[in-house]
Amino acid sequence: MKIAVIGSTNMDLVSYTDKLPEAGETREAQAFHTACGGKGANQAIAAGKLGADVMMVTVIGDDLFGEKSMDNFMENNINTEFVWTATGVASGVATILVDSTSQNRILIHKGANECLTPDVIEEAAEALKGCGLIVLQLEVPIETVYAAIDFGKENNIPVLLNPAPANKALSIEKACLCDFFVPNETELSILTGMPTGTEEQVKAAAQTLVDKGLKNVIVTMGSKGSMWLSKEDYLVVPAVKVEAVDTTGAGDSFIGCFVENYSRTKNIPEAMKEASQYASLSVTRKGTQESYLTREEFEKLKK
Ligand code: ATP
Ligand code: RIB
Repeated sequence: MKIAVIGSTNMDLVSYTDKLPEAGETREAQAFHTACGGKGANQAIAAGKLGADVMMVTVIGDDLFGEKSMDNFMENNINTEFVWTATGVASGVATILVDSTSQNRILIHKGANECLTPDVIEEAAEALKGCGLIVLQLEVPIETVYAAIDFGKENNIPVLLNPAPANKALSIEKACLCDFFVPNETELSILTGMPTGTEEQVKAAAQTLVDKGLKNVIVTMGSKGSMWLSKEDYLVVPAVKVEAVDTTGAGDSFIGCFVENYSRTKNIPEAMKEASQYASLSVTRKGTQESYLTREEFEKLKK
């Protein structure tokens, strides 16, 4: 089954520091690297590395970062027929600071991702009709996300929406048309206005979304694991205990693995367990896409 990821592509500028600078302070980073990122691209690459047939719908800038991102898609066997280059526009960029506790702070500039307007859905319509799952995030214009959700509904194609980064303006009515809604704890808290510090609080907040009509809410909870709530189901998959060095893109690796597995098995608990293992391994390595294992590497390391 083909998976379509309609979303962002960024270049990540990552600095590793023992301590994050305070306002007005300048500090030295111990390490720095640039790497291909963006929530959409990360999820596509994770699924692709695991063997999924992935089509990416995205816009890159006509700069060196855009070229690097295009090469990266091709090297990872992602279908790039609908990867457009916006003339005279800079690629999306994420400035990322990672501290010694493996926590990150991210500042994004959308750049070319702003050019992924709703008409792309029409342009890619025929190819999208051949996909069995559409995967969306919120780093592109919200109207495009809504157009993709409507397209999925009209054509009977399941849609997974990762509401990241959190956007309070997201229409819950539109989100209800999706088959899967996958926020992290922070996004869930912002969307519901409820605390999500404990498992019970996450469950209560997720329940309000299910009550509003969301079908399958899967909340990622960092080192606490992940939770699935629907009208009939409740499951917590604990995280695998690991020594985390960089959690950037953990959520994207979880989603990439989840969709690869789910598209084969149609089994939500199984896909969550596999995604939990895959994401836990990604946090033991520095970087985002570089920390995602190939199918071969994953088979050797998973328990
Ligand atoms: P990001 O925004 O950095 O992509 P996120 O906040 O969306 O990440 P998390 O909820 O932090 O995503 O993590 C996703 C999944 O990754 C978790 O549900 C868990 O399975 C795994 N994970 C994350 N952090 C850890 C950790 N420290 N140890 C083990 N597993 C982890
Ligand atoms: O989820 C991680 C991603 O968020 C990074 O790759 C960065 O590009 C930001 O979009």
